[in-house]
Amino acid sequence: MSERTASDERPTVLLCVTGCIAAYKSCEIVRLLQKRDVRVKVLMSEHATKFVGPTTFRALTHEKVAVGLFDDPEDPIHHISLAQEADLVLVAPATANVIAKMATGIADDLLSTTLLATPAPILVAPAMNAGMWRAAATRENMETLHRRGVAVVGPGSGYLACGDVDEGRLADPDEIVARTLEMLGRTSALAGERVLITAGPTYEPIDPVRFIGNRSSGKMGIALAAAAHAEGAEVTLVLGPTAEPAPSGVTVVRVETAAEMRDAAVSAFADATIAICAAAVADYRPLMVSDHKLKKSEQPLNVIELTETEDILATLSAEKGARRVIGFAAETDRLLEHACAKLAAKGCDAIVANDVSRADSTFGSDTNKVWWVTAGGTEELPLLSKRELAYEILHRAVR
Ligand code: CTP
Repeated sequence: MSERTASDERPTVLLCVTGCIAAYKSCEIVRLLQKRDVRVKVLMSEHATKFVGPTTFRALTHEKVAVGLFDDPEDPIHHISLAQEADLVLVAPATANVIAKMATGIADDLLSTTLLATPAPILVAPAMNAGMWRAAATRENMETLHRRGVAVVGPGSGYLACGDVDEGRLADPDEIVARTLEMLGRTSALAGERVLITAGPTYEPIDPVRFIGNRSSGKMGIALAAAAHAEGAEVTLVLGPTAEPAPSGVTVVRVETAAEMRDAAVSAFADATIAICAAAVADYRPLMVSDHKLKKSEQPLNVIELTETEDILATLSAEKGARRVIGFAAETDRLLEHACAKLAAKGCDAIVANDVSRADSTFGSDTNKVWWVTAGGTEELPLLSKRELAYEILHRAVR
């Protein structure tokens, strides 16, 4: 166990996890805070342990995970020590029940007792069914918390566990982490930056119903946009056709073709300080686009004549001046050789070289294994979630 030592200067966040299906997202919050050099201790309600086991948090934090009031025989006033040790208490997810307990001062388990006892600032991230969120009791309880200076992040709107698409969804972990860091007085790594990100595939029409496209999900670019926003940047996300939801807090420009993506990117780049081209742009488009659906009977369609699309990354790099432009290279073979060639050919500052032949790094996966390639050398990064990788890329991009 790597518990706090006298030389540990990191701020401590006490993460209170309550009984909600979104409890699994608290694991991501732990990881993201640790990456920003924050010590995280976890306190769970009994109900929360029905959704995620304490062992998961123990493994992630290397700290004891508190659950019951009388679990620690060595510390009979555990709630007081936990309450006093924290620089900030984060309740995520916060159910309607714990919010009601906080508002009324009920202290009937370790979690609610600690919340009542703590002198630390409290940040609450509510998550519940929309009806519970809008209920008069919850409204009044939230007003009470607000009046007492308790900070709140979210909830957002989206798909809820009950099947509704409505308000009540736990705020994005990036947003929760950004608010936590802000409350800890941390400066945001990308404050003052204006970041342009291209993401997703492009669709190049053949006729009104058919197109040439690719398997890109846009997840990496979307993760970059969310992370850049969380780090304090103003973000424009130029997003090709994808079913993935765009993050909140960023300007999203939806496009379909490479030409539309190029126009949107060039226009947003005029005002940007950093550009990251994560899109899988079609290299070719059909030369002729039929204005009606092509029929089998019309004539045999053996050949579709193609013409090259404009290279957006190269276009932005040529205009960049002192600004930073980062590209991606998705390769199935001779990864670093191709990445170095792309760095030189496109004139950008760095290439994120991605081996898409690996199952854990391919289109649509949630993880990526990449190398950071610049004129100064090549750095191998470990296999990371796209969310974690987004922060790694951004921190290198602003250096
Ligand atoms: N890119 C772009 N515009 C294009 C093609 C690619 O902006 N028309 C960008 C991508 O967003 C990525 C980088 O260029 O950042 C490399 O894309 P990739 O598809 O890997 O390489 P290509 O240049 O298309 O070369 P090839 O397909 O031969 O590997």
